[in-house]
Amino acid sequence: MMHFHKEEFFFRKFNYTESAEHLQEHKHFIEKVAAIKADAKSGRLISSFELINFLKNWIDHHILDIDMKYRECFQKNGLR
Ligand SMILES: [Fe+2]
Repeated sequence: MMHFHKEEFFFRKFNYTESAEHLQEHKHFIEKVAAIKADAKSGRLISSFELINFLKNWIDHHILDIDMKYRECFQKNGLR
């Protein structure tokens, strides 16, 4: 998860105050993806509806909301 590592690197570098909640969401996402992969390997496939729903929620909640919250902090520290 290269994108997560980049975000987390800059959270530490800029002492981003909201990082705890953010890191927790990354952790949950990684765990959920690992569970989906493990299930698929053992023949238990997630329904396409559940998968799309999971990804849609991730985009709507994390990418379009939570990820937007650090923009001001990153910009203040000179990151564009
Ligand atoms: Fe994030």
